[in-house]
Formats: sequence, structure tokens, C-alpha cells
Amino acid sequence: MDEVDSQQIDRLIEAVLASSKYKSIDVDFIRYIGKQELSSHHNLKEAIKSTKNKLHQVGGAYQTSAPCYSVWLDELKFAKRSGNEEHFLDTCKWIMQSHSSTRERLPVLEHFYSTIFANLPPINSVIDIACGLHPLAVPWMSLSEHVQYFAYEIYADMIGFLNDSLALMPVQGFAEVRDVTHSCPTQKVDIAFILKAIPCLEQVDKSAGLRLLETLNANHLVVSFPAHSLGGKNKGMTANYESRFYKLVAHKPWSIQRFEFPGELVFLVSKS
Ligand SMILES: C[S@@+](CC[C@H](N)C(=O)[O-])C[C@H]1O[C@@H](n2cnc3c(N)ncnc32)[C@H](O)[C@@H]1O
Repeated sequence: MDEVDSQQIDRLIEAVLASSKYKSIDVDFIRYIGKQELSSHHNLKEAIKSTKNKLHQVGGAYQTSAPCYSVWLDELKFAKRSGNEEHFLDTCKWIMQSHSSTRERLPVLEHFYSTIFANLPPINSVIDIACGLHPLAVPWMSLSEHVQYFAYEIYADMIGFLNDSLALMPVQGFAEVRDVTHSCPTQKVDIAFILKAIPCLEQVDKSAGLRLLETLNANHLVVSFPAHSLGGKNKGMTANYESRFYKLVAHKPWSIQRFEFPGELVFLVSKS
């Protein structure tokens, strides 16, 4: 990138970060999208607008209202201190409602993990890719306290909240700001969740899904797809995503199990 272009990308990043909706998004991720948009628009104002649109599509659209992380954390700590387990679980569910992708799973939380994990050996480590508020579902996963749980997202404020929340959960939790399409975690784990993330990540980079499936160093991948759009339309999405998924894993020496939950199509990919 020459001098003028690098000045343009700096100005674009500054303009995007000035907006309260995008101020805590990973700067490298904004830079990646900003470069794409600058090369297709050649006009800074238009490129800023389309960068914000893309960031909204892949992130902001899932946040049903402005997140209240400090209030949520206070409520979680209060529920934890009360020693009332049911109150703690209700508080986790109440918070998960604020992320539309995570929220859709609430009606099936009780049997989602027991169904998917039914025939797996004991789990010692977990990666949660493009996690949204999904780490708040840890109490439903029946994991032991020594389990390491690594969660990744593009929002720094969400990651701060998740680190504080994971400290109250019965696992060893670590949340980190990371653009998983260009910096895929590589540590060895038993399970990696890639829940409803592939269609979202592929909006920015068409090869993101395949790269994640190949690069994640996990014995098992839990890969899911939404059964309807954010607006609630079905439009044959399950069939389309199923065929897309089988194309991604074609010719791989992996075993695949398929599960269907209301609102979510899930594949358990066993790599070893
Ligand atoms: C469809 S939601 C899935 C959330 C969560 N996995 C779940 O199903 O409950 C996609 C999430 O990916 C995050 N995201 C988008 N692009 C990302 C990237 N490049 N790296 C990490 N996270 C990303 C968004 O902020 C959003 O929370």
C-alpha cells in the first residue's frame, strides 16, 4: 500500500472508531475490511460508509440493543454471591437474550450439549470461535472445573465482560479479542465450537469457513448453521447450508454426525 493509501486507511479507521457502535471492534479487523472497501470504492466517504455497513452485518446486527456490560456483570456477581444456582442460571439466560444468535438457542439449552456430547470422551479443553455471548451457556455444558475454555470475538468490550463472567463459571476461562478469519487459534483442544459463524465470517472472506475447519487443532468441531435469517425467514436455508457444509468437508477423512434443533442445524465433525 503506498503513502496515500496508508493515510486513507488510517483516516477510515479513525472515522469508524469514532462511532460508538464500532469503537470497540478489533482495529486489525476494521483495517482488513476498510482496505477491501477502499479498493472497491476509491472514495473515502463511500468506503467509510460501506465499512460500517459490513461491520454491522457481521457483528452489530446480532446485538439486539446497546450492551449493558457493567449492569450484567453486577447482576451475575449478585446471583453468584446469593448461592442460588437457579437465580444464576436465569441471569445467564437473561443476558444471552441480548445477542440474537445466542438467544435462539435458549429454548434448547437443556438438551443441546447433552445430545451433541453424548458419545464423546471426557472434555478437557474447548475453543469457542466468534463466540457472541455463548460462553454464558457454560453452566449447561456439564464441564469439569479444570476444563480450559478459550473464547474469541472482535469486540473488546464484550471480551472484557466475558473474561469477568467466565471467572464466575465452573471452568478455567480465557476470552481474547481476535479476528478468527485471519488469526485462527492453533492450540490443541478437545472441542471447538463454530456456532452459526461460518456464514457470517464468509461475508468478509469466502475461504474463512474451510480455513477454520482445516486449521483448528481440535479433536471434534461442533459446526452449526442458522435455520432461518435474522429477520426470521426460512427460505430453504437448512438445505442450502447443509449442502454448503458437505461441500466444505468433501474428501476430508473426518466422520460427521448431524443434529437438528429448532432454529439450528448442527454437525459434529470428528477429526481424530
Ligand atoms: C452469528 S453470530 C454467532 C455467535 C455465537 N457463536 C452463537 O452462535 O451463539 C456471529 C458472531 O461472530 C462475531 N464475528 C464476526 N466476525 C468475526 C471475526 N472475524 N472474528 C471473530 N468474531 C467475529 C460477531 O461479532 C458475532 O457475535
